[in-house]
Formats: sequence, C-alpha cells, structure tokens
Amino acid sequence: MDKRLSNGLPTYRDATAPSPTPPPTWRNRKRRRRGFRILATTCLAFLAYCAAQIASNTLRPIGTLSIDRLRQDHAVCAVLRKKPTEASTTRDHNKRWVKGTKPLLIRNATIWTGEPAAGTSAEDARAGKGWSWVSSDVFVDKGLIVHIRPSISLASMPSDTNVFEAYGRLLTAGIVDMHSHAGLSSEGGLQDDTNEMSTDVTPYVRSIDGVDPLQPEMEYIKSGGVTTSLFLPGSGNNIGGEAYVLKFAVGSKNGREEISQQDLYADPDRNWRYMKMACGENPKRIYGKVGEHGPVSRLGEAWEFRHALEQARKYVSEQDDWCTTADTVGGENMATYLKQDLRLESLGAVLRGQVRVNTHCYTIPDLEAFVRHTNEFKFRVYAFHHAHQTFLVPEVLKRAWGGTPAAALFADNMYYKVEAYTASERAGAQLYAHNITPTYVSDNPVLNSQHVVFEAAKAYGNGLPYHAALAGVTSAPAKLLGLGDRIGKIKAGFDADIVVWDSDPLAAGAAPVQVWIDGAPQFENPYELSKPEPVPITPVTALANELKVSSVSGSVVFTGISYAYPKTSKDTTSMDRNTDSTSAVFENGRLICLGVCASEVEVARSAKAPVVQLKNGHLTPPFTAFSTTLGLSEIDSEPDTHDGPPPSDGITRATDGLLFGGKQLAQAYAHGVTRAISAPNDYGFEAKGVSAGFRTGAKHLLEENAVWADEVGLHYVLTLGAKKEGTASISAAIAALRGKLLDAVNNNATIPDLSTKDGYAEKTYLKRVVNGTLPLILAVHSADTIASIIRLKYTIESAISKAEPSSINPILNVVIIGAAEAHLVATELAAAKIPVIVAPLQPHQGSWDQKRCLTGAPLTNGTTLNSLLDAGVLVGISVEETWETRDLGLLAGIAYANSEGRLTLDQGLDLVGRNVYKALNIDDSNVPGSDEWIVWEGSPLETGGRVRAISGLSGRMDVWQ
Ligand SMILES: *[C@@H]1O[C@H](CO)[C@@H](O)[C@H](O)[C@H]1NC(C)=O
Ligand SMILES: *[C@@H]1O[C@H](CO)[C@@H](O)[C@H](O)[C@H]1NC(C)=O
Ligand SMILES: *[C@@H]1O[C@H](CO)[C@@H](O)[C@H](O)[C@H]1NC(C)=O
Ligand SMILES: *[C@@H]1O[C@H](CO)[C@@H](O)[C@H](O)[C@H]1NC(C)=O
Repeated sequence: MDKRLSNGLPTYRDATAPSPTPPPTWRNRKRRRRGFRILATTCLAFLAYCAAQIASNTLRPIGTLSIDRLRQDHAVCAVLRKKPTEASTTRDHNKRWVKGTKPLLIRNATIWTGEPAAGTSAEDARAGKGWSWVSSDVFVDKGLIVHIRPSISLASMPSDTNVFEAYGRLLTAGIVDMHSHAGLSSEGGLQDDTNEMSTDVTPYVRSIDGVDPLQPEMEYIKSGGVTTSLFLPGSGNNIGGEAYVLKFAVGSKNGREEISQQDLYADPDRNWRYMKMACGENPKRIYGKVGEHGPVSRLGEAWEFRHALEQARKYVSEQDDWCTTADTVGGENMATYLKQDLRLESLGAVLRGQVRVNTHCYTIPDLEAFVRHTNEFKFRVYAFHHAHQTFLVPEVLKRAWGGTPAAALFADNMYYKVEAYTASERAGAQLYAHNITPTYVSDNPVLNSQHVVFEAAKAYGNGLPYHAALAGVTSAPAKLLGLGDRIGKIKAGFDADIVVWDSDPLAAGAAPVQVWIDGAPQFENPYELSKPEPVPITPVTALANELKVSSVSGSVVFTGISYAYPKTSKDTTSMDRNTDSTSAVFENGRLICLGVCASEVEVARSAKAPVVQLKNGHLTPPFTAFSTTLGLSEIDSEPDTHDGPPPSDGITRATDGLLFGGKQLAQAYAHGVTRAISAPNDYGFEAKGVSAGFRTGAKHLLEENAVWADEVGLHYVLTLGAKKEGTASISAAIAALRGKLLDAVNNNATIPDLSTKDGYAEKTYLKRVVNGTLPLILAVHSADTIASIIRLKYTIESAISKAEPSSINPILNVVIIGAAEAHLVATELAAAKIPVIVAPLQPHQGSWDQKRCLTGAPLTNGTTLNSLLDAGVLVGISVEETWETRDLGLLAGIAYANSEGRLTLDQGLDLVGRNVYKALNIDDSNVPGSDEWIVWEGSPLETGGRVRAISGLSGRMDVWQ
C-alpha cells in the first residue's frame, strides 16, 4: 500500500503511508536496540556452535543432549530439503471441499476456459489465436470441476445435483487478485494491521495473523467475482513478512463449516509459502533515522536486504552442514542440536526455494538492485508489484535469478508519487510484447479489489490482447502463485471457483450474477442487474497500435461515425451503426458536416486532407472533471507539485493557483476530459474555496480561454475531512457554515465588487451564495450529514424570505459531491432540489462516513446513482484521485451499463458533462468551446473506446493516428 495525501496524510487510514510528522524517536530507539539484539544473539549462537563443533569433532559428549530431540532435529532435515511440487496430481476431491456441498450442474453457459483450443501452438496462442468463448455446461462435484461439455444430461448426474441455468451468460474462473491487504484493516479503515512497523526487516511476521474473516470487504470483494487473493503484508518494510493465498468463503453462509483464518487457506497443504518485500521510497521514509540507522536511502535499503539475506544464507548452510553430518553419523550422534531460529526460518525457506517472493518495486534503480540481490543470494522473485517502470527495462527483469518475474500492475493508477510518475497505461501491452507476464491487482484498499477486473478491462483498452488481459486476473496470477494447476481456469480437475457474469467480464460495469467457491454458491439471493443479452466483446486488435497525436489545421474527415451526441434538439442520435457512410467533416477545428457529406468529403479529399477511417466512431461533447485535484496537484504525495491546501481561515480562489502543463492534465485531455472545474483542496473533492473552470489542454492561465470561469462555486468540506484544522466535529462545521450563511443573509450591505479587497472575501462569496448567484458545493458522504445539509438549506431559505419579504421562494443552490450514502435520503434530496455529484461512482466502506454505501450487484439491491435517478435527483459523476479523471468516460459507461434502462447513451454522457453545468446553473452553451467535439473510435462508455481527435478552439484539431 502506498499512497498519501498532498499534505502528507494517508489517503485512507494506511499505516504504511507516510506519517505527517517524522516517526517518533522512541520507535527508532526501540528498533535499534532490537536490531542490535538480533545481531548479538546470532553471533553468540554461531560462536557457540563453532566452538562445540571444534571441541567435539561432531561427536556428542555423552549424556549432555537429548537423543529424542536430536532425532527430531534430524527429521526436520527432510522438511528443510523439501521442494514444493510444481506438477499437478490427480485429485478425486478438492481438500477444501466441505462434505454436504451438493454437486452442481451449470447449464447453457458461454465459457472462457482460460486455455486456447486444443492443438493451438504456444506461439499462436500468444498472438491471440485459438481463444474463444464456448457454449457448454459445467458439472462440479466434491469441489472440483468434473465435466465441461454441452448438453450434460441431468439424469446421468447424482440425484442431489443442484442446477443453475446460465441462459447463455458468460462464465469464467474465479478472479485471482495477487496483491490484496483485505481483512487487515477494519471496516471504514478504523484500525489497521497491514504492516509490522517495529522494524524494517520482519520476514518472521505473517499476514494471516492479522486477517479478520468477518471484515465486510470479504463479501463485497467477492461480489466482484474475486475468489482468491494473495494477502500481503504492506510495503512499509523492506522485508514485510509472509503472505497467504486465501479464498473468500467465510462461514456457513458461504458453505464452510467454520469461521476461521485457517479455513480460508486456498491450499490447506500450504505447498508453497509466499513473502512480501518492498524497495524504494516507503521503507526508507518509514524507518530511516539520519545519524542513527538506515535505511535512509536506496543504498541503505540494498544493504538491509543483503545483510538479512547474508544471515539467512549462513543459517541455511549451517543447517545443511548439520543435516549432512547427521545423515552420515546419525542424528543421535550429533554434538549439537540443529540450529533453528524463528527470526531466520522464513528467509531461510526463501533461499531454499520454498517461498515465492513478491516484491513491491517501481523504479529502475529498485528493480535492478533487487535483480542483483536475487543473483547474489540465488532466490527467485516471482513478481514485481506496482512495477510502473518494468516496461522500460524488460532485459533487466530477464536477468533475475531463477526466471523472469512478472509485473503486477495497476492499469492506469499512476503519478501519485515520484516512483509512479514515470508510468504508462500501455505498460502491460509492452511487457507482454517482451514476453513478460502482466497481471492486474488492486492493492486493496488502494483500489477496491471488487473491481480488479476493471483494471484488466482498461489494460485491454490500452493494447494488451484481450486473452492476456483476462489471463492477467485469472490464470496468470494463479500460475505465479504456484496454483496454476488448480485455479484460474475452467478445466476438469480444477477447483470449482466459478463466476457467471451479467456481461463480458471486461465490459464496463460487468458484475457477477453468482460466484461459487469450491462448488459452493456464495450469494444466497444475488441481485441481478437487468441487462441486454450478454455478448462477448469482439477483441479489437487495432488497440495494439499505439497512436501518436498531431495538430492538424484545415480539413479532417472521419468516416464510420455511428453515434453523435445531440447538441441541439434538431440533431439526430440514431445513426446506422452498420454503415461506414456517416462521416464527420471538420474544417479548422469546426464540425461543418455530419452525415453522408458527399461534397464536403470530396472537397476535403481533393485538398489532400487526412481521412481517418473509424470503426464505430462516436462524436461526443467534451467531458468535465468537477471538483477534482486536476490543475492543482501533479504528484499527489509531493506538496511542491501542488498549489497547496486551502488556508484554515478565509477563502482562496483556485484560479490564482492553477498549474498547467503536467502529465495529469495531459492524460485527462487525451481521454476527452478537456475541461475541469477545480477548487482549492486538501484531497480530491474535499475542497474549500472558490473553484475555477478551465481547459485541461491550455498552456498557461493567460492563454485565450484557458480559464473560462474564475469563480464557479464556493466549496466547503463536510466529510470526515472537516474534523480538523480547528473544527473538531461535524456539528461544529455545520454550525460554522450556518452562522456564516445567516450572517450573509442578514447583512444588507451591497456586494463589494472585484475592485475592492472585500470583493474576494469569504463573506462576499457567501453573500453571492445567499443571493443565488454562486452555487454552494459541499463535500459529504454520510447520509446523516446530508440530512443536516438539507435542513440547513431550508433554514437559510426561510431566513432569506424573512429578510427580504419581496423574494419569492428563494433557492439556495446547494450541490453535494461525494454522497456515498445519498441513496438513503434520495427523495429528500429530490424534494430539496439538491443536485448530487457522486464521487466515487462505486463507493466501498473506505471511511466510516461511507459505511452504509451500496457496493452493487450481486450483493446489494441497486446503486446510489440508480436510487438518485429514481427519485428524480440531478446527478453527475466525479472522482477522488487525480489519475482517475482520465476514466470519467468509462465511469459514465459503468453507470450507463448498470442503469437498467434509466439512462440513454446521451444521458450517460451527460453524467460527466451537461449535468455538471446544470447542477451549477451554468449555461454550457456559453462556455467557450461549446462547439468542441471529441471523436472516438468505439464508444467512450465502453472498454476499448479511444479518442481519435479533439476539435480545438484554436482553429486546429488534435488527431491521434
Ligand atoms: C441458452 O440460453 C439462451 C438464452 O436464454 C437461449 O436462447 C438458448 O436457447 C439456450 N440454449 C440451450 C441449449 O438451452
Ligand atoms: C440595513 O439594515 C440596517 C439595520 O437593519 C438599516 O438601518 C439600514 O437602513 C439598511 N440599509 C439598507 C441599504 O437597506
Ligand atoms: C445579487 O447581487 C447582485 C450584485 O449585488 C445583484 O446585482 C443581483 O440583483 C442580486 N441578485 C439577487 C437575485 O438578489
Ligand atoms: C430491489 O429494489 C427495488 C427498488 O429499487 C425493488 O422494487 C425490488 O423489489 C428490490 N428487489 C429485491 C429482491 O429486494
């Protein structure tokens, strides 16, 4: 885990994340003493052992040692020498199977087996040949997949067989997320057991000791189809401890006999063990203490690794020597006991090849140093996690000892720290092209593991072949965990971890309709979204081609347009998707024709204008990122790259602090988010001050139309983020806001203009709020606080009526953003005419004030967005973190796909466009660039849609070809 806030606070309650102040010195002193003690004990033990060896010449002085214990020690030698098995063995049942779990017949499914058709060569398979969805039934018994073939007759199956009719829906193996910290922190992030922070090198701790099987996330993560995860200790330590592969079935409701940690083991035999290591910024920041002990630099970290591994190597060779001698002379004749030390045991097992090491490493120096360590100490690293720079150095990875490690990636979560500032959303595609396996992970709770398939979906959209993207969350991680012969595929003899989906798993908004673990159904009354008949995605191989942008003047022709957003009521939305004849012709950045456009196309062709042939082209208005950090923060964890937090007293204007030209803005722009409205913020939408509306593609503030509104709205924070900076409670924050608004109502002075200092004062903006000319934007998640806001709005409105009897039905334009629990007060919000911008679209219980959020099907009936739509609330979508702004189109796509017909495609686009302006009382046709278009290949609301052109204000057009 790994992220932090602009001001150094964790973005969630993450014990690994940097502390805002330097770590307390007591911790460092304690650590140093302990470190010394480890060393001293090791040296003494070693000296004693050597002395004994020399004195006795391996022969046991009579009567001093226990023969029983020596014999037991000798038996331990076999365990030390054990090599975990790689090959599969035939099983007649799954050891996790609970007797009484009935056989299961899933009929009429469309199956992704995870393997290409029989006979496909490895080379063809890599190239994407031989992969397909196949119609079949699946029979499951004793926790294993038994048969996969069409038309299995129920009569030939055991009489107690349960039948699940899939009605042609899509079926895959359970999703495997090989980087999760699920179960290690409490609901709402209240308490955290992710990292043992007593010292930097803790190979001897185990994640399992902190996993709480009853954390609600175990259920909602599984509701995303995730059946198995590698539960890793955090990345605060260079060596963080042992990790465990667990399945998400807990207790009797999930078909288990007990609620326990042990019952979660994916492999009850624990054939393989796993260890988490981490390099780079986190450990040196958390543990190093200048002048006292390291690591305070990468140099120091490399020493920590090498020193720990050196001790483990000595330990292993002493044990091996003992065992060899014991084999010769007999254990009972040994002069000493076998050395066994829990502090060194797990690292020893790493060097013995019994442990699969997974290491958090981002940068080239980290990756390369770690590869050196593997060669120096001869152990294998199975995957580099986070790994943002791996795509730049495939040859370095290939130098790792024992085999090339995989890269466990996010699709596009990047730029949040210096280590993630060099990153590419095409990393997966490029690694794959170099024969390095990409897998996609959540780092839950950094991303909610429930939606880890969305990472694979985006990877596909960014050029990773479809089959490799699906493999990246199923068979590839399974193989890396040493469980490739048991999970990650639909294959006879494999564990019966199965997901039936409501749509293609890589489609926007895909949700399971049922999940089975070891043959047991996991949801008793799963909610199923009503969706069109599922059709698998037809992989678009052209996505593998990386496009380059160029700025074009004059005419540009796009053919194959199948959808254009109706900007006016005259426009037509329904175009014939089956013809390439609909064209869009732009001249000097303006759309001059949409339709057959024969003469315009002819003119353009004869002028040798570029003609871009699209498949399923879409024309949409630009997207708008509302109240994000865009333009105010570049690298989230680096305050130098931010405008900075709002002052605790008074109000500032974002327009005075806008930062143009960074990667975040460039990515937003390249994904069709050409406009943003940002307010001074501490973190994401938790803003305080006056927001500005600006263009993400602008070079600087003074460029024409760079800022199209200096003052969009007045923002305040009423999430848990309000409980700081002198306001210790939500009630105090509400009271303060109410007081300020009532002062504004009852102060009859005229509004000072912008030629006076007072024109920029908080009280002036508040007067504009109560006068109805400036929206009041409140960041809030809790339904209770939203209810208080609704009451506050009525209080202020009646105060206005009283103060100005002439005003009829004054309306305070309150907009709320965040709104994880808004479904609980949807009708009240509608009655109060409060628009809602949901952020995030798919909340989970990331903080206590989001506890009652809906995580969606199959676990919850409905979503916040749908409840708000049903109640008639005006809704939009925003995000929490800067990098997510590029995904606004896909998020709108998820809302659209899961709206069960509540939204048309046009209305889906409005969630990240027109609705934001409506909520703010802005006439978007007056925003400069209102005739701007984004040209997409594919739908922006679907996986694999991508921007091909943006028509500009400058008379030019950016075209990606
Ligand atoms: C499978 O389900 C689909 C969708 O309900 C249906 O059209 C088809 O006839 C079914 N096929 C079989 C073999 O039952
Ligand atoms: C403002 O209110 C004060 C006291 O209520 C009153 O004396 C004054 O005339 C008012 N001024 C205006 C401009 O209405
Ligand atoms: C709001 O204040 C402005 C500036 O003082 C004034 O021109 C406008 O009439 C006021 N609007 C309302 C609705 O009171
Ligand atoms: C789900 O909620 C809807 C209202 O949004 C309700 O009509 C329906 O009955 C609920 N379904 C179940 C199974 O509870």
